[in-house]
Amino acid sequence: MAFRKPEFNAKKRRLERALTIHDLREIAKRRTPKAAFDYTDGSADSEISLTRARQAFEDIQFTPSILRDVSHVDTRREVLGGTTALPFGIAPTGFTRMMQTEGEIAGAAAAGAAGIPFALSTMGTSSIEDVQQANRNGRNWFQLYMWKDRDRSMALVDRAAKAGYDTLLVTVDVPVAGARLRDTRNGMTIPPTLTPRTVLNALPRPAWWIDFLTTEPLAFASLDRWSGTVAELLDTMFDPTVDFDDLAWIKQQWPGRLVVKGVQNLDDARRLADLGVDAILLSNHGGRQLDRAPIPFHLLPEVVREVGRDTEVHLDTGIMSGADIVAAIALGARFTLVGRAYLYGLMAGGREGVDRAIEILRSQIIRTMRLLGVATLDELTPGHVTQLVRLAPRAALQEERQLQEEA
Ligand SMILES: Cc1cc2nc3c(=O)[nH]c(=O)nc-3n(C[C@H](O)[C@H](O)[C@H](O)COP(=O)(O)O)c2cc1C
Repeated sequence: MAFRKPEFNAKKRRLERALTIHDLREIAKRRTPKAAFDYTDGSADSEISLTRARQAFEDIQFTPSILRDVSHVDTRREVLGGTTALPFGIAPTGFTRMMQTEGEIAGAAAAGAAGIPFALSTMGTSSIEDVQQANRNGRNWFQLYMWKDRDRSMALVDRAAKAGYDTLLVTVDVPVAGARLRDTRNGMTIPPTLTPRTVLNALPRPAWWIDFLTTEPLAFASLDRWSGTVAELLDTMFDPTVDFDDLAWIKQQWPGRLVVKGVQNLDDARRLADLGVDAILLSNHGGRQLDRAPIPFHLLPEVVREVGRDTEVHLDTGIMSGADIVAAIALGARFTLVGRAYLYGLMAGGREGVDRAIEILRSQIIRTMRLLGVATLDELTPGHVTQLVRLAPRAALQEERQLQEEA
């Protein structure tokens, strides 16, 4: 018998106790003011899109193979012309330094250390160049929102190209802002304002406030200072006229790989594949835009079948564990992105918290692969995963029943 050496570093102790992304979420919730936590954790309207997307990952059945040599597991993947150490990257998120002041710099540095790509949002709170410095030897991707001011949008794209970003993600599911009701109810503004309610909420979270008030003030990477609500900001900036011709034009301007983020039906996927984009990212923006949107994980098999031969199909929304990522890869996704899973880590412990989130996902991926009897990601097949039916369109079910009767 041996005594376990006590861990005197409180942050380390806290993070080591987190065994899942859900655990990190609980720590994040305790440590972060309500408005910032809810901005991250919440989604649009009744939050049905996000609940369903997470549920869809829970509603799977894995089918393992036995008696395979899984002593060594290789989690590497070729994605958009480069190798990544794990089959996921960090999704672009806005206002990240408002959640925890280390923000994008922590995310980019942790991604670099883990050998996975980091995506910086147009609404990011660290500059294109600072993020590149934080992840000098790794892959940085830039996410573009097309603004009403086209010249300013394209100036950002030029800066990203000059700084060596290799991939542009064009987000297409925000013609207008979704209705984030938690933000409205919390009176969430950018930057956070001190009201009697925020002060009361701050009392049990002094560390967050001391950190926030003693580090560099919140500023946007790519736009001037703003004071107002998030929805007001989005609706002032975004251009609801953006269409397929604009996308083709952006494609001509950008020298690297191009991903379209926010694809939600088969017809659009086909049209984008015809346009020659490098990847389609099936996503409903983590449920933050249209509520009751299609579940990306349910769309995956048919989109892969239709366009997957020539176009990479990526997926995000709802990923809370490494097993979710393995399931997506088995059903044909080339790559996945995680948004909140990373942000819960960030809010739970800054850079070390992001490292912990990546480590949790990594160990879950490896363990799931071993238990499935596969040693490489390419060995994963749709036969390893059954999507159990809880929610399926009536028409699809009827069709299936008819086919069974005819057989
Ligand atoms: C707090 C937050 C801010 C986000 N900001 C952006 C953004 O600025 N641009 C963008 O394209 N997507 C943004 N997203 C969506 C993410 O890129 C990603 O699609 C989503 O988080 C995936 O779902 P998940 O959080 O369940 O992993 C944001 C998501 C969150 C949670």
